[in-house]
Amino acid sequence: MWFPNTLMAFLLLLSFSLIISLSSGADTITANQSISGDQTIISKDENFELGFFKAGNSSNYYIGMWYKKVSTVPPTVAWVANRETPVLDRFSSELKITDGNLVLLNESRSIIWSTGANSSNSNTVIAVLLDDGNLVLRSGLNSNENLWQSFDFPAHTWLPGAKLAYDNRTGSKKLLTSWKSTEDPAEGLFSLELDPIGKQYLIKWNKTTVYWTSGAWNERDKLFTLVPEMRLNYIYNFSYVSNENESYFTYSLYSTSIISRFIMDVSGQVRQLSWLDNTRQWNLFWSQPRQQCEVYDICGAFGSCSQTSLPFCNCLTGFSPRSQTNWDLNDFSDGCVRKTDLQCGRTSEKYGFLQISTKGKPLNWTSLNVGNSEECKSSCLSNCTCNAYSYADNNCSIWVGDLLNLSDDNNGIVINVKVASKDLPSEKNNNGVIIGAIVGSVIAVVLLVCLIWFLISRKRRRLIGKTSVEGSLVSFVYRDLQTATKNFSEKLGGGGFGSVFKGTLPDSSVVAVKKLESVSQGEKQFRTEVSTIGTIQHVNLVRLRGFCSEGNSKLLVYDYMPNGSLDAHLFSTDKVLDWKTRYQIAVGTARGLVYLHEKCRDCIIHCDIKPENILLDADLCPKVADFGLAKLLGRDFSRVLTTMRGTRGYLAPEWLSGVAITTKADVYSYGMMLFEFISGARNSEQSEDGPKKFFPMRVANTLTSGEDVVTLLDPRLHGEANVEQLTKLCKVACWCIQDEEENRPAMSQVEQILDGVLDVNMPPKPRSLQLFVDNNDDVVFFTESSTSQSSQTHSNPSSHGSQVKSAASL
Ligand SMILES: *[C@@H]1O[C@H](CO)[C@@H](O)[C@H](O)[C@H]1NC(C)=O
Ligand SMILES: *[C@@H]1O[C@H](CO)[C@@H](O)[C@H](O)[C@H]1NC(C)=O
Ligand SMILES: *[C@@H]1O[C@H](CO)[C@@H](O)[C@H](O)[C@H]1NC(C)=O
Ligand SMILES: *[C@@H]1O[C@H](CO)[C@@H](O)[C@H](O)[C@H]1NC(C)=O
Ligand SMILES: *[C@@H]1O[C@H](CO)[C@@H](O)[C@H](O)[C@H]1NC(C)=O
Ligand SMILES: *[C@@H]1O[C@H](CO)[C@@H](O)[C@H](O)[C@H]1NC(C)=O
Ligand SMILES: *[C@@H]1O[C@H](CO)[C@@H](O)[C@H](O)[C@H]1NC(C)=O
Ligand SMILES: *[C@@H]1O[C@H](CO)[C@@H](O)[C@H](O)[C@H]1NC(C)=O
Ligand SMILES: *[C@@H]1O[C@H](CO)[C@@H](O)[C@H](O)[C@H]1NC(C)=O
Ligand SMILES: *[C@@H]1O[C@H](CO)[C@@H](O)[C@H](O)[C@H]1NC(C)=O
Ligand SMILES: *[C@@H]1O[C@H](CO)[C@@H](O)[C@H](O)[C@H]1NC(C)=O
Ligand SMILES: *[C@@H]1O[C@H](CO)[C@@H](O)[C@H](O)[C@H]1NC(C)=O
Repeated sequence: MWFPNTLMAFLLLLSFSLIISLSSGADTITANQSISGDQTIISKDENFELGFFKAGNSSNYYIGMWYKKVSTVPPTVAWVANRETPVLDRFSSELKITDGNLVLLNESRSIIWSTGANSSNSNTVIAVLLDDGNLVLRSGLNSNENLWQSFDFPAHTWLPGAKLAYDNRTGSKKLLTSWKSTEDPAEGLFSLELDPIGKQYLIKWNKTTVYWTSGAWNERDKLFTLVPEMRLNYIYNFSYVSNENESYFTYSLYSTSIISRFIMDVSGQVRQLSWLDNTRQWNLFWSQPRQQCEVYDICGAFGSCSQTSLPFCNCLTGFSPRSQTNWDLNDFSDGCVRKTDLQCGRTSEKYGFLQISTKGKPLNWTSLNVGNSEECKSSCLSNCTCNAYSYADNNCSIWVGDLLNLSDDNNGIVINVKVASKDLPSEKNNNGVIIGAIVGSVIAVVLLVCLIWFLISRKRRRLIGKTSVEGSLVSFVYRDLQTATKNFSEKLGGGGFGSVFKGTLPDSSVVAVKKLESVSQGEKQFRTEVSTIGTIQHVNLVRLRGFCSEGNSKLLVYDYMPNGSLDAHLFSTDKVLDWKTRYQIAVGTARGLVYLHEKCRDCIIHCDIKPENILLDADLCPKVADFGLAKLLGRDFSRVLTTMRGTRGYLAPEWLSGVAITTKADVYSYGMMLFEFISGARNSEQSEDGPKKFFPMRVANTLTSGEDVVTLLDPRLHGEANVEQLTKLCKVACWCIQDEEENRPAMSQVEQILDGVLDVNMPPKPRSLQLFVDNNDDVVFFTESSTSQSSQTHSNPSSHGSQVKSAASL
């Protein structure tokens, strides 16, 4: 008994001392200290931790900084010191201060990484890990001047407070570079840089080829013209600074309780993610470029990108990955090589050409002055260095270098790639005319059978489309829609999910054709989903007439609404919607939503209610548009967020807190829209004489103080409104935008109230209004004691109880 007890005590003591030495809680490395093995330093409030880490399954170790409060496995690394120079044994490597610099010594005690700063008093220099993720070098404990800071040397992560900058004096840049692969933090090919002349961001491939731009910075709206998602009112405060010395872009978070980061991902996309405690994962808010295949040369030489396959990259036929290991790690940058080398000059070698069709002409071709396709082909065949040729529009082009940036596209540019004959698919054995003939005829028969089968199945599918969906949904042929829309020439608008074009069908009925962007679903699922949407019919919902699904082209055909969308009427300067019409639109929209939420077989959450998505028919009867698309297009709702544009101001707070989205999110957006019915202006609009109070807050204050609601009315109506209805709309709107979902009404209750069947009691004043920002970017804070509590209400579940209580006491 004695022995085990002592052992136990000993073990306990041992583990205790281990804990002490591992996480002594220090945030500082001083001259006489070092980090080795599993030792780390932790920032004061425990936001970040710094020490050795291993990337993926590789055996390399790096000094890095990771989120301490984010519990992912492996940890989420935000910064890496020795990106290019890993160590293998972390116990015999050491991070320490030497001669006034923080340096990393490898196993044989050579310096393999250093902060490289100049310091006058090198004896007292210390390194401190700050809570914002900045590792700084200071001349002493009491110094606040940074001799060096990791924020000036970002890796792939851009943290709040750090700058992405261009130094106008030295021409140097602070930029983000992707990791090489998920297991290798070394500099990859993709970088996010600032272009000070265009006042914009660029993503470059290999620091040279630009393949994405953010569009110029718009100072008024505080966003980049091509990335409206970049600024969701609630969380990010971006700013752009440009003077004679430097230009930079930086951002902060309104609420310190939110953890958010930008990364230049190995996929070549820049991404913004936020940590959601509820789901314990990083939630993607947006990424650019939107499509993987828009990333320049993502698949490397002779690799081809296909948006519909997983992984996105495949080697061309007759080629295989140069490095299978890297390929398996989704690092495609090495590209592909021929399975069989072209033994140039050896006449016994037989070559053939693989025909591919790719989007965009790969760079670096040579034009040859030859008369026809055959001559073009033989020029390439007889030139050892020729890798491919293309003959189009009487022009012959050949490529002697690698073919980069290939992307599958059936309607693209046809290129013939030189491949050893034995690697070509259809000519495995080409030494006999007879075999060739047999193979040829077999192929012909197979093709014929396929064609017949295709025609039959297509016909059947079309019939299915017509009959199974209550006889209403038509499966259109792409070409017919192209004709109907005069080759997509008359654009009606660009909604969140794609552009809409006006078209006229052969029966002379007018339709709106929506070209969907980035459909993530497979063919079968797409059809199922579309048929579901097709069955949903209501007088206040825009009717889906049919669809088209051919390869990557996915289109939806809707009834055409001659009066366009509500925003054009509500916010127009030359016409005014009278009160009666506004009220009817409010009622009609509510009915449409009740149908979506409660009357359909599967409840449908719209996810994007705003005036742009309320269309008006010839009689100004409202019809909700774009319902069902969120599900159709997104793998999950965070994806939906990334595709939504111009939506700020209508999003419910729970979109940001990560709880499951319910129909109450639509109720919130509907409420936000009601305010605009009342004021005839955008909630976020600003008057000339400085920032004005956020309109919904004005309404809430007017209601609680018992003032005359008519003062709230759109001045263009000159007080001409039914006061009872006006009061009702004010109350319902305030009720709809309660922070807590359970405090908001259901759409059916809203409908009943507007119909006068149900009475509305005075709703409490919504709290999260204090977080709203107007166009001037000044957050409107409210000083009433009742609303001054905290600005973190929707991300802190534990405060809910007190909130509800104090709300009730209003
Ligand atoms: C480091 O150690 C040396 C001798 O052990 C001592 O003289 C010096 O004061 C120490 N420096 C710091 C910053 O503690
Ligand atoms: C590491 O290797 C294991 C087993 O070989 C594998 O299951 C796992 O996915 C790998 N992890 C990464 C990050 O590649
Ligand atoms: C340590 O780094 C030096 C210089 O880069 C190098 O020559 C040496 O091989 C490295 N030692 C080990 C064990 O990797
Ligand atoms: C450090 O000082 C040297 C000499 O004064 C200078 O050449 C070098 O550029 C300085 N380095 C930094 C990082 O300031
Ligand atoms: C990137 O550019 C460098 C020269 O700047 C070149 O040596 C290298 O081969 C390029 N990388 C690729 C993958 O083309
Ligand atoms: C937004 O950022 C700017 C610039 O950093 C700052 O001046 C402003 O106070 C910030 N606004 C809020 C509400 O944090
Ligand atoms: C950068 O510096 C040059 C002179 O060195 C100046 O002409 C130019 O205006 C500066 N750029 C900006 C954006 O201030
Ligand atoms: C630009 O740099 C110079 C020299 O360091 C400094 O005097 C000036 O104030 C700086 N200008 C701005 C706008 O920071
Ligand atoms: C790369 O290919 C895409 C199409 O996939 C094309 O739009 C783009 O212009 C190409 N980039 C360059 C630099 O050629
Ligand atoms: C195209 O040619 C130029 C000049 O010869 C070279 O710098 C560039 O790297 C080449 N690009 C590709 C994609 O091969
Ligand atoms: C192959 O074509 C390239 C580009 O036109 C040319 O520069 C080269 O001289 C040609 N080689 C031969 C052997 O004809
Ligand atoms: C053929 O190429 C030339 C220059 O390379 C170009 O100007 C011309 O438009 C091309 N012809 C056609 C029909 O595309």
